[in-house]
Amino acid sequence: MAEPVLDAKNITKSFGRHVVLHDMSLCVERGELISIIGPSGCGKSTFLRCLNFLEIPDSGSIRVEDVEIQKASGQGWNRAQEHRAHALRAHVGMVFQSFNLFAHRTVLDNVMLAPRSVKGQAHKEIEPQARALLAKVGLDGMAERYPATLSGGQQQRAAIARALAMKPAVMLYDEPTSALDPELAEEVLQVMRTLDDEGMTQIVVTHDMRFARAASDRVLYVEKGQIVESGESETLFSAPEDPRTRRFLRTLL
Ligand SMILES: Nc1ncnc2c1ncn2[C@@H]1O[C@H](COP(=O)(O)OP(=O)(O)OP(=O)(O)O)[C@@H](O)[C@H]1O
Ligand SMILES: [Mg+2]
Repeated sequence: MAEPVLDAKNITKSFGRHVVLHDMSLCVERGELISIIGPSGCGKSTFLRCLNFLEIPDSGSIRVEDVEIQKASGQGWNRAQEHRAHALRAHVGMVFQSFNLFAHRTVLDNVMLAPRSVKGQAHKEIEPQARALLAKVGLDGMAERYPATLSGGQQQRAAIARALAMKPAVMLYDEPTSALDPELAEEVLQVMRTLDDEGMTQIVVTHDMRFARAASDRVLYVEKGQIVESGESETLFSAPEDPRTRRFLRTLL
C-alpha cells in the first residue's frame, strides 16, 4: 500500500489545566476525503490546527509527506522544530470559516501572493497558474475584483484557490461553509467534490452532516477531545457503533 500522506500520532493538547485533546491519532491515505464531526467545543478546530502546527501540540508526532515532527510532553518548542513546521506547512493548505482574504488586494493577487513570496516564483510563471486555479473554482472573470465585491461563496472559493496555489499535498478546512447561505455553501462544496474527484486529499471539520455523509470517504466522530468512532461515512451515519455517536446523531434529527 502507498504511504499515507498524513500520519498524526497520539496528539495531546491542554489549555492551562483544561485537556482539550486526549491522544488523538489519524492516518490519511492519498485522495481521501475525511470529515470530522462532533459537538461544539469538542476539539475539532484545535485538532485541525495541530495538524499543521498552527497550534503546537503538547505531545505527539505528525508527518506530512517527508516532513516529520515529534513533540515530547514537557519539551519546549525550539527553532529547529519551528523550521520543520514551516516545511510541513508548505505541504498543507488551510481554509477557514471566515475566508481570511487580504482585503486590499485583488483576488488574483491573493492567489499569487504566497507562491511569489514563499516560493519566490516569478510573476510571469505564476500568473497563468493562478488564473487557471480561479477558473477551476468558478471565478474566471473575477481576478481583478477585490474580495469585498464578491459573495461569501465566491470569497471562500478564492480562499480555496489561494491555498491550492501552494500545491499542497493535503487541504484542511475548518467549517468552510458555516458562514454561508445554503446555495453559496453548495458552490463551495461542489469545488471540494471536484478536488476529491481529481485525487486531492482533504480533511474537513464540518457541521454539514449531509455533505459529511454523501461526500466523505471516512468520518471521525469526536467528543471531549477523543476520536470516539471512525468509519466509512455511510456506515457511521446509518449504523454507528458507539452509544456516544448514536446520541450525537440523534440530537441532530
Ligand atoms: N486558545 C485557546 N485558549 C484556551 N482555550 C481554548 C483555546 N482554543 C480552544 N480552547 C478551548 O478548547 C476547547 C476546544 O475548542 P475547539 O475550538 O477546538 O472546539 P470545536 O470542536 O472546534 O468547537 P466548535 O464546533 O464550536 O467550533 C474549547 O473548550 C475551547 O474553549
Ligand atoms: Mg471549531
